Amino acid sequence: MDVASLLARRRMTRSFDGSPVELPWLVAACETALLAPTAGHSAGVTLSVVGHDRVGEYLEVATDPTWRTRSTRYPGWARAGGLVLVSSRVSAYLERYREPDKAASGLGERDAWPVPYWYGDAAMATMALLLLVEEAGLAAGLWGAFRNVEAVREWAGLVDDELFATVFVGRPDGHDRPSTSLTRPVPTRAERVRRLS
Ligand SMILES: Cc1cc2nc3c(=O)[nH]c(=O)nc-3n(C[C@H](O)[C@H](O)[C@H](O)COP(=O)(O)O)c2cc1C
Repeated sequence: MDVASLLARRRMTRSFDGSPVELPWLVAACETALLAPTAGHSAGVTLSVVGHDRVGEYLEVATDPTWRTRSTRYPGWARAGGLVLVSSRVSAYLERYREPDKAASGLGERDAWPVPYWYGDAAMATMALLLLVEEAGLAAGLWGAFRNVEAVREWAGLVDDELFATVFVGRPDGHDRPSTSLTRPVPTRAERVRRLS
């Protein structure tokens, strides 16, 4: 399937059928996703693959009992066939941009970055993974990193990394309820493409 069709077909999925995603396939997909661009060839993004057997354990760390009781979506997430933690090591970027060919950028210190490339690289690898998942006939749902982040980093052994997102992967069970975010009035895609010439 061509890229435009994959983009058009891909939608976030938040309710899976509980079947495992083949771990070697997910590992290989992550390696392919890391063909995504990386600023200065810093290669600071890491994809940590969690198999179906540890999805429940991840959720115990990443959420709290109140959320798990109240969230109507929790059971659907818990039936994911695997997941991938997308993280980025900031020091890889600082070290790279201190090297002689990049030092003039002044980006050797974290506070100097107007746009932190470690998040840009993480987003590029994430998008590549989402497309590979779609191409394989699977589905994915993404969590931003804002809940229990320190605990998740520790659990995954990512103490030197910033967590960017969690990508749940699996087969949809057909019980997905679209996000309420989708009902927000937003500018059309055409309106968000500007012609400057
Ligand atoms: C950086 C980022 C963080 C997101 N965080 C969450 C999240 O925490 N929970 C969730 O259900 N969806 C999350 N989403 C998914 C968005 O809600 C979804 O992409 C958006 O509503 C558009 O839907 P679509 O991707 O199906 O087109 C996130 C997406 C991005 C790009």
